[in-house]
Amino acid sequence: MKVLILNGSPKCEKSDTLHMSAAFARGICSVSGGDVHIIHTAQKRIEYCTGCFICKKTGRCVIDDDMKEILDAIAGCDVVIFSFPVYCHSMPASLKIVVERTMPLTFEKIVKGEEGYHHAARDGANKKRFVMICGSGYPQSRDDFELIRKTFLRTFRQCDAVITVEESPLFNIPDAAFAAKPRLELLEAAGAEYISSGAVSEQTEKALAVPMIPEEIYMRFANGEKP
Ligand SMILES: Cc1cc2nc3c(=O)[nH]c(=O)nc-3n(C[C@H](O)[C@H](O)[C@H](O)COP(=O)(O)O)c2cc1C
Repeated sequence: MKVLILNGSPKCEKSDTLHMSAAFARGICSVSGGDVHIIHTAQKRIEYCTGCFICKKTGRCVIDDDMKEILDAIAGCDVVIFSFPVYCHSMPASLKIVVERTMPLTFEKIVKGEEGYHHAARDGANKKRFVMICGSGYPQSRDDFELIRKTFLRTFRQCDAVITVEESPLFNIPDAAFAAKPRLELLEAAGAEYISSGAVSEQTEKALAVPMIPEEIYMRFANGEKP
């Protein structure tokens, strides 16, 4: 199983949320074998989509930049994990540009699906499995997660798992390992479940969505005070 992580955090290797996706990918590979390839979108030179729609006819983008590497990586993998933190109640800009530049994955033809109209996926692209993994810095981020989940599911019909975890800065705070470690173990188990049963169960999704520590204690960590 080839897993591609598109890490949308501009912190790249130092990203909090990358810990979550790496654990999930480890879980996938523990069941199926395979390898994990990580692309940090902020390190890539990717222009804005110009909306020319030529890719809808040809399957290829006319812009010559690093998006070609990302589209090739998507074509060569089985599972794509879009990994990112909430930024301004949405996704980070470098990842949004990548999402918009995935236009070549669909045809010009617009079809009506269960959740409204969308461009029909090209053969190949519709066989990929997409996963969204997102963390947030503010407690009580449920509303933001719900909006981002909807955006994601409507953009990518192939998305068959959405994982959200509040308090993601804890993954990079050594004193918070007592809370972060069990959550990473749960993420790894979720990856294994996703690949062996075909989905992340509602029960697992819910367990992942519960804050790792009580809000008052988290806020002390977040504000740099002694917890
Ligand atoms: C520019 C910017 C905007 C942010 N906006 C939000 C936000 O709207 N809601 C939120 O919960 N956290 C927000 N955060 C906090 C991040 O989601 C949080 O710190 C996350 O753990 C960072 O993950 P990363 O290390 O993978 O980038 C923001 C952080 C930055 C730098």
